[in-house]
Amino acid sequence: MMDWTDRHCRAFHRSLTARALLYTEMVTAQAVIFGDRDRLIGFDAVEHPVAVQLGGSEPASLAQAARICAERGYDEINLNVGCPSDRVQGGSFGACLMREPARVADCVAAMKAAVAVPVTVKCRLGVDDQDPEIALDALADAVVAAGADGLVVHARKAWLQGLSPKENREIPPLDYDRVHRLKARLPHVPVSLNGGLASVADARAAMAGLDGVMLGRAAYQNPELLLEVDPVFFGCAPPHADAFAAVAAFEPYIAAHLARGGRLHDITRHMLGLFGGRPGARRFRRRLATEGVAPGAGLDVLRAALADLRAPARRDAA
Ligand SMILES: Cc1cc2nc3c(=O)[nH]c(=O)nc-3n(C[C@H](O)[C@H](O)[C@H](O)COP(=O)(O)O)c2cc1C
Repeated sequence: MMDWTDRHCRAFHRSLTARALLYTEMVTAQAVIFGDRDRLIGFDAVEHPVAVQLGGSEPASLAQAARICAERGYDEINLNVGCPSDRVQGGSFGACLMREPARVADCVAAMKAAVAVPVTVKCRLGVDDQDPEIALDALADAVVAAGADGLVVHARKAWLQGLSPKENREIPPLDYDRVHRLKARLPHVPVSLNGGLASVADARAAMAGLDGVMLGRAAYQNPELLLEVDPVFFGCAPPHADAFAAVAAFEPYIAAHLARGGRLHDITRHMLGLFGGRPGARRFRRRLATEGVAPGAGLDVLRAALADLRAPARRDAA
């Protein structure tokens, strides 16, 4: 998720689930090819398994970008066919590619020829006035024939005119049944569901008959729920008993970032959703959002914020 699931976010989430597949923000093929690769696609070994999501619509550049990402060690290459933003439409990629299954298939075929790791596609049910029954099948059939290793379906259409990207994550109604019908038609194709899953329990239930689920906002806004992922989906214990232990174990990663001249806030901004609803959570957030952004802020700020949570609840105004 753009501006959210950067490398620090992903490394932090990894301290809450050892097994979930983590995704980068979308990065365009052009940026991968011509941009600052360390900044754009650099990641820490701790993040595995990690998928990079590419944006683009030119088979040759997507293939080149996929190769670069695979050489860097990404475990999966995912193509974005779901982003509705104007900037992306200007580049003729993202959700508007729902109208061009043949082109997406060419992209997938080129990426598949370039890398050995799985190539997957994240798409919508359709866009604008498309009939989702037709549009999703057309896209899925085309990319599967081109060799796609799986589909992640954000289970709503996108409106390319008149709705902001944010509205496009809320307003077109969700239709999980449509994703199940796709899976019934393509039983051999791994199909994952995304959209509106608010908890791990919801996600587990929605996954029945499918191959995977993808959590977006819920995982970012309430990262503690990731502690349930390994037990519920993989039948094993989470990496740490609770969020306190997960944050403590993450301290060396933060210390290394600070030692390289990085800012505390680069990392703690992804922790603001922790401990939601718990006494002291507000003070935790406030301290991180004020003291944590100061130049030179160090681990002591994070430790003090955590101590706020353990302090008596009477000081927690709300
Ligand atoms: C801030 C933000 C950035 C996003 N960036 C991307 C992106 O880069 N690529 C993508 O496929 N989806 C992106 N999305 C959409 C989510 O991946 C997801 O499809 C959508 O939010 C619905 O799932 P959810 O209800 O679990 O959040 C973004 C969503 C948000 C809130």
